Amino acid sequence: MVEHKVVCWKCGNEVKDPYVNLCPKCGGLLTIRIDLSKASEKNPEDLRQKPLGVWRYADFMPVDEAHKVSIQEGGTPLYKTEALGAAVDVPNAYVKFEGLNPTGSFKDRGMTVGVSHAKELGAKVVGCASTGNTSAALSAYASKAGMKCAVFLPSGKVAMGKLAQALFFGAKVLSVDGNFDDALALARKMADERKLYLLNSINPYRPEGQKSVMFEIWDQLGFEMPDRVILPVGNAANIWAVYKACMELKELGWIDKVPKLTGIQAAGAAPVANAFAEGATEFVPVGSPETVATAIRIGNPVSGQKALKAIYDTKGYCATVTDDEIIAAQKLLGRKEGICVEPASAASVAGLKKLREMGIIEKDETVACICTGNGLKDPDTILANVPKPIPCQNSVEDVERILAQD
Ligand code: F0G
Repeated sequence: MVEHKVVCWKCGNEVKDPYVNLCPKCGGLLTIRIDLSKASEKNPEDLRQKPLGVWRYADFMPVDEAHKVSIQEGGTPLYKTEALGAAVDVPNAYVKFEGLNPTGSFKDRGMTVGVSHAKELGAKVVGCASTGNTSAALSAYASKAGMKCAVFLPSGKVAMGKLAQALFFGAKVLSVDGNFDDALALARKMADERKLYLLNSINPYRPEGQKSVMFEIWDQLGFEMPDRVILPVGNAANIWAVYKACMELKELGWIDKVPKLTGIQAAGAAPVANAFAEGATEFVPVGSPETVATAIRIGNPVSGQKALKAIYDTKGYCATVTDDEIIAAQKLLGRKEGICVEPASAASVAGLKKLREMGIIEKDETVACICTGNGLKDPDTILANVPKPIPCQNSVEDVERILAQD
């Protein structure tokens, strides 16, 4: 087990009660200080004795690998997307396709670590609020661990594939009257009363697993960092996780260059991007968030302040994209690269295109877009934006007639 401490990210106070998710002294968010001495005895190449995936980086993880709860998460492809790169005028564009995780999103990386920790604590009931993917991932890992699971979902606003997953894995699926922020408030109340162990990303063990996406990109590029990493920002923990991975590699002296971390939000749910536009380190919550990218339909991101730190510290950027830009980017990725991502994930590609057009991204940059979830999670949005199937008689002539059309 890697030595580690749970501390307040603001005042450094150590927190020992695993059911506490905010600093009892100053109310700050928690983070985990990993003792890197085990990793420091190695070289990056030594990591490759294990297969690509979260547990290749066990020396950076605050749980004991020996009793991990795993469904082989991580190890996703990093595509060199040449046709996309040509279309957006960034020849060295890459896509890290997180939709190929076991439950189809990057959340599995956090859950393997979060649920393993819950198991270490002896938790019997785990829970989370979710826009969909977190609930799908937690439901699966709770099943694997033999734990009871409750997921709190904003009613009517969760993509069908994600809802189907949570129901399928046997979680208690609670459809809460309100948006994600309301559902999270209820889940947190339950956790505060110790009726469940909360596995939202406010739990600092979750981002620890999610760090691995950055380790993998660096590993897949031959232990080189890209110039920039672009990712969608919702509740804002993933960009913090990516930042933390960079800081740990830097502390080890394994990297010099830290990529410019670039967060993309949907225009209708953009508290972090609004704060960035004003150069602020605090954000103002958005009351009624709205976007086709339901995964990031969040007005009061728990880790918003951490996201802003990650962006400012790396000289990154934060921008908004419209729903139309998101859908256009989703199609572009499908038509040029054969990759099907969900709308929130397409936000990173929409951001790549927009920021290149604005001149913020230079043509010669190496850019990795993290595409966080699989397109099959949200078939309704896909079907709303593609042509209908073509009625066809059972004859060769009719097929020929149809193929002759544009
Ligand atoms: N992309 C997808 C596909 C997501 O599901 C999420 C978050 C994000 C991006 C944003 O990541 O919150 O760390 O900034 N989904 C959460 C959920 C909120 O409940 O599944 P973040």
